[in-house]
Amino acid sequence: MSTFHHIPVLAEGVLEHLVFPAERKVRMIDGTLGGGGHSSMLLEKYPQLELLGIDRDEMALESAAKKLAFAGDRVHLCHGEYAMMKEHALSIGWESVDGILLDIGVSSPQIDLPERGFSWRNNGPLDMRMDQSSDVTAGRVLNFSSEEELCRIFREYGELRSAAKLARAVVERRKEGFFGTTADLVKLCDDTLGKSAPGKLPVPTLVFQALRIAVNRELEQLEEGLNGALELLSPGGRIAVISFHSLEDRIVKEFFRRESASCVCPPGLPVCCCGHKALLSLPLRSKVVTASKEELKNNPRAACAKLRIAEKL
Ligand SMILES: C[S@@+](CC[C@H](N)C(=O)[O-])C[C@H]1O[C@@H](n2cnc3c(N)ncnc32)[C@H](O)[C@@H]1O
Repeated sequence: MSTFHHIPVLAEGVLEHLVFPAERKVRMIDGTLGGGGHSSMLLEKYPQLELLGIDRDEMALESAAKKLAFAGDRVHLCHGEYAMMKEHALSIGWESVDGILLDIGVSSPQIDLPERGFSWRNNGPLDMRMDQSSDVTAGRVLNFSSEEELCRIFREYGELRSAAKLARAVVERRKEGFFGTTADLVKLCDDTLGKSAPGKLPVPTLVFQALRIAVNRELEQLEEGLNGALELLSPGGRIAVISFHSLEDRIVKEFFRRESASCVCPPGLPVCCCGHKALLSLPLRSKVVTASKEELKNNPRAACAKLRIAEKL
């Protein structure tokens, strides 16, 4: 049995809004293939669909390969980043696609396996790499970044009020030796900022989120990926993006808003001088799809998920 257990989030919303014409062959990219949960549903629903599945994580790709075997040569797998989706698509001769799915963030196995180092609840190495062939681990960021850089990471990616205090404490603590495990970092968070107040997100959650985003360059990936998606989508093609925290959702919301606007001049200008052209429409306007009570009962990890949809004009 596969050890990769991940329940696809907002699957109903994805199936409802990432739609394809039934009468012709269609192509899509799943830029965050994971275990292939969403992709398998789409491949089942559309027998004429060909899919390029991209993931940075070899373990995810291995698992998806098994799950999607039923679709035979309709599936192409690629170990890489979705920020490079255009290059990956071109490498199999695709110049455009009819749909794109990005279910960004971490998979359940990445969080649950202590040896991946993503979770502060389990002790493990300070790793947090989605792509285990990359050189940049959480340990490297924590042990070698300057105090200023650490402060920026904690403030921008963890939205931590005490970012400066924590960065200072990391640098002080390094004088005694390198941080080796997730437990070392949790202890420093507790010693420096105290135990988290009841009802608030635990401080280590925010610190680990911040490091993970830095290690995997997640926000840069999202910005580059959205631009690549816009170029690749053919007219009428849709992009569906599922995000899990406000930093990501803000980027998606802003991108969709800007690219669906016919003018991006600063407010108050008497005439438009930006020359901007709308390239997207928003079928749900600016609404987001979130998990139903039923879904939350089966998968509490869907609680923060937000699905946004845009269509190429
Ligand atoms: C939430 S899981 C996707 C789960 C998938 N939709 C499913 O139903 O099984 C996110 C996956 O995206 C991958 N990922 C995250 N950022 C990526 C990036 N920039 N490029 C490629 N893969 C990425 C992660 O390695 C992880 O496997």
